[in-house]
Amino acid sequence: MTEPSRREFLMSASASSAGLLLAGLTTDAASLEASHEAAASRPVAAAFAATHQPKPLPFDPAKMHGFSEKIIRSHWENNYGGSVKTLNAVKQQLAAALANKDTPPFAYNDLKREHLLRTGSVIFHELYFDNLGGDGKADGEVRKQIGDAFGDFESWETEFRRIGVGLGGGSGWVVLGYNLHLGQIENYWLWDHLHAPAATLPLLVMDMYEHAYQMDFGAAAAKYVDVFFENIQWNVVAARLAQARRFKAFDLPA
Ligand SMILES: [Fe+2]
Repeated sequence: MTEPSRREFLMSASASSAGLLLAGLTTDAASLEASHEAAASRPVAAAFAATHQPKPLPFDPAKMHGFSEKIIRSHWENNYGGSVKTLNAVKQQLAAALANKDTPPFAYNDLKREHLLRTGSVIFHELYFDNLGGDGKADGEVRKQIGDAFGDFESWETEFRRIGVGLGGGSGWVVLGYNLHLGQIENYWLWDHLHAPAATLPLLVMDMYEHAYQMDFGAAAAKYVDVFFENIQWNVVAARLAQARRFKAFDLPA
């Protein structure tokens, strides 16, 4: 983004709904404008770069098993796409708020909370769409390793499904993850985008926000879970697990 257009964005953002966050941080209009000018006058550091682009769907949404094309497109465009836009806007606002010496720390943390929330939403949605588009058939090494971790594959599936159904009617994510610290494959319950298991790489991600299923299945969360399983792209899960096995969180003493 050129400097003039970046400055225009920052100024317009303060009047937008997203801009309300920053507007509440500053002591007066002059201070707000000064912070915008300060942020716009120097190169954008990577931590504040508002450059995230929506990741295209890795499958044809018209060819899903049991999902309508409409719900997949709506989910991708409105929920995921909305989070991408907001994440970029929040990063712009963080840069301006940081440049303003009058920004109260507690108010700055309101933006950091939104930053964490949108980062979680963007990443989990990308992982979610990437692990869909398959035939739902798990076999080979990935099935064996999950089965070994849970006693058998069916026990893993039972727990994963139960967590999902338990989140029905509310919000959250179910994550099969490889915990680097523990060296274990585990299922995790996440109440919202802010939750994430520590030191864990997600292998399989299921969106349990109502927007993921209400349009097709109403309140029947269990039916959605069935259809999700029919569309899992297990090749992606297997690749994630193989890569996760090569990582180590820290060189901790035994
Ligand atoms: Fe979602």
